[in-house]
Amino acid sequence: MASRPDAVIVGGGIIGLAAAWTLARRGATVTLFERDPVPRGATWAAGGMLVPLGEAPDPGPFLSFGLAGLAAWPDWARTLEEAAERPVDFTRCGKLLVADDAEAAAALRRRFDWQDADGHDVRWLDRAGVERVAPALAPRWAHGLHLPDQARVDPRRTGRALTAAARSAGVELRFGEAVEQILRLDGRVGGVRTAHGATVAAGAVVVAAGAWSGGLSGLPRPLPVRPVRGQMLSLELDAPVVDGLVAGAGAYLIPRRGEDDRPLLVVGASMEEAGFTVATDDPTVDGLRRAAEALVPELREAPEHARWAGLRPGTPDDLPVLGVDPELDGLVYATGHHRNGILLAPVTAEAVAGLVAGEMLSEPWARAFAPTRFHGGR
Ligand code: GLY
Repeated sequence: MASRPDAVIVGGGIIGLAAAWTLARRGATVTLFERDPVPRGATWAAGGMLVPLGEAPDPGPFLSFGLAGLAAWPDWARTLEEAAERPVDFTRCGKLLVADDAEAAAALRRRFDWQDADGHDVRWLDRAGVERVAPALAPRWAHGLHLPDQARVDPRRTGRALTAAARSAGVELRFGEAVEQILRLDGRVGGVRTAHGATVAAGAVVVAAGAWSGGLSGLPRPLPVRPVRGQMLSLELDAPVVDGLVAGAGAYLIPRRGEDDRPLLVVGASMEEAGFTVATDDPTVDGLRRAAEALVPELREAPEHARWAGLRPGTPDDLPVLGVDPELDGLVYATGHHRNGILLAPVTAEAVAGLVAGEMLSEPWARAFAPTRFHGGR
């Protein structure tokens, strides 16, 4: 065995990089393996919405974990930007969900009612209110739910910042080397074997390989993480058309700063069970564009900038898998973040560092995110 870091991280997306950076700052020696020479997984593809109030189906463990993630983001972004000397473009821009028919309005209203009753900062808007928040929206969007304290970040800038920060914290980054197998030693985790045949021993192994996590051999139990494809596009703008995030029938809109600093609008996203195929198709992307134009008619004039797809790591109950394997000490799962890996990265990284150090994840998250929950365990 070539070297013996305290922890090996499998996966160089936002979850793996954030965990590696956090562990290294706590004094651990860390080696991170990422299959792509330049990571192009779900983090690269993501929109970067930090919107637990828009994503949570109910006031359950996902919402509380997501709110903890959102609460952590401002300080985390500042610390990361200082460490990496790069911006990540965290912006508390709010999100506006709009409806143009009675059924969609009723669904938004139900969300407003439970979130308002639970004391969250949510506002119910009539047409005049929608117009005040987003004047560029077409008049048909007559009902709105505004979530003013939700936020966004640029996932690609964040990925690059985390790479720089992890490297300068001493993490050994092995990009372009896929891990094939989790190894055992004396009844606990022993390290990993890579697709190149290299063996690296470690006291802890963190599975953070997103949609590819379930394909690792040597896992003590099946890990039902599957790819859920999201196709997206971006449009070039002369000036931003919305200040915050917007979602209506069939599309969401995310303002972003392009690599050349010019304004872009990211439009997402499909949800497709398409295996590991990362490709776009014209009908789907064209449909997203039409849905975006129905929200903001002036987008008809906007040139397309790019189109792409990514694979979300989905699970049977749409919740992350976060915890230590009860049968293989030292094996930590941090995967299955589905639509919300960017939001959940800061709190997941803290949790992983605690789990590697032998701490327990707090309830209700330990039970809700338990790696054994798909097999009758807790
Ligand atoms: N977070 C939005 C999406 O996954 O499409």
